[in-house]
Amino acid sequence: MDEPIWQELLERARALQERAYAPYSRYRVGAAAQVEDGRVVGGCNVENAAYGVTLCAECGLISELVATGGGRLTHFLCVGGLGDVVMPCGRCRQLLWEHGGPALLVATPHGVKTMQDVLPDAFDVEELQEADT
Ligand code: THU
Repeated sequence: MDEPIWQELLERARALQERAYAPYSRYRVGAAAQVEDGRVVGGCNVENAAYGVTLCAECGLISELVATGGGRLTHFLCVGGLGDVVMPCGRCRQLLWEHGGPALLVATPHGVKTMQDVLPDAFDVEELQEADT
């Protein structure tokens, strides 16, 4: 995490974490990512009294990405708890895969990894094409 972009993403994610709406779990999450064109997008978790419809921080991030013009994600991280980097949940790894692919760099508690590392053998659009024939 020596590249300056990681520090920028960490600060953005921690600022977004402050805005999380997490009255049920009390676990605040902030997520931030860089887009190939230099934009930084982010999100925070938004919980609901119907617990199962909670939006993870990554949902907000992907929504901002698409709503502001799309593009490929190059660097991603999320923070939880006291503001330390945490792993994105399994569902959100799938969301990230869609918009970053195998080469997306993901900061983890165990160092910087690729999406390929954190979501091996991912379900992808190619599977849909097979079903189309
Ligand atoms: N959460 C996220 O926002 N992203 C993740 O990748 C993991 C979990 C949120 C969902 C819920 O509001 C809280 O963390 C506790 O699970």
